[in-house]
Amino acid sequence: MSDLKDSLLSQKEAFDAALSKVTDSAAAEQLRVAFLGKKGSLTQVLRGMGQLSAEERPLVGKVANEVRSHMEEILSARISEIKELEKSHKLKREVIDVTIPSSYEGAGARHPLNMAINEICDIFLGLGYSIGEGPEVEYDKYNFELLRIPEGHPSRDTQDTFYITDNILLRTQTSGLQIRTMEKQKPPLKVICPGKVYRSDALDSTHSPVFHQIEGLVVDKGVTMGDLVGSLQLFAKKLFGENTKIRLRPHHFPFTEPSVEVDLTCWSCGGKGCRVCKGEGWIEVLGAGMVHPEVLENCGIDSEVYSGFAFGIGVERTAMGRYGIDDIRLLYENDVRFLKQFK
Ligand code: PHE
Repeated sequence: MSDLKDSLLSQKEAFDAALSKVTDSAAAEQLRVAFLGKKGSLTQVLRGMGQLSAEERPLVGKVANEVRSHMEEILSARISEIKELEKSHKLKREVIDVTIPSSYEGAGARHPLNMAINEICDIFLGLGYSIGEGPEVEYDKYNFELLRIPEGHPSRDTQDTFYITDNILLRTQTSGLQIRTMEKQKPPLKVICPGKVYRSDALDSTHSPVFHQIEGLVVDKGVTMGDLVGSLQLFAKKLFGENTKIRLRPHHFPFTEPSVEVDLTCWSCGGKGCRVCKGEGWIEVLGAGMVHPEVLENCGIDSEVYSGFAFGIGVERTAMGRYGIDDIRLLYENDVRFLKQFK
């Protein structure tokens, strides 16, 4: 019996000595297998217990259990220590020095469409407008219904789009932002809302199924058509120069009354007539009008007290004029040779 006890205690010493040399998880596992595994040396010693008498067995058993729990405890403590160490080494190794100079030298340029949007918004910010926005995936009621374009209205035909469900679609115009703005804010209000819009149009040098508009909306007491004309005149001069004139042509939009289409004097020839304006001297850039009283009422605004104007600027056309781009497709192909020119 004392033989067994002795060998248990010498196992313990051997284990402690071996453990003090263990410095990584793999060595710890090896040690566990060597002592505590199925063929481990402690296990072998314990096999010898079968030969002990019934009185001796519990006494040796007690020592054996103590030795085994001792081994298991200090081993698992050592393993946690090692894990911590390994983790902190790994973190040290994977540190990124953000101060090392990069090898990338080619800084990009702002996209001409964003340049145009920024330029236009800046002009209106200077006039006291604030900037608004809304979702490209829009409810039918904002894109059409509350703008007086009910189901079956002919103007839906010219603005066919991608329907996600019967009443959710990719917006065809930013005019829905008029409604969204007026639902949230009460007059006086002056907002400008740039955004991407979608229409089922074929791509050619002047059309794209995805394009950008900037919606403007002003609502207050006593707003008139004169205010609209004055604001647009100012916008045109700021963007294309002092000599730029605007021309209003009567038009129809369901959500404005009266409605107009607005042309600017050609940015290429100044109005004499050239290839860019197809000999007209004028280029159509936006639609506008006085907000229809029913649209105001749809948003809970008293049309007896308040009036307003709205306009929608075509960004692509404006950018093309402003930067001398002759094909709308260049704006979406993102050929770096084209984009680099705007640095
Ligand atoms: N949403 C109109 C269009 O896409 C433009 C517009 C905006 C007209 C605001 C009037 C007022 O053609």
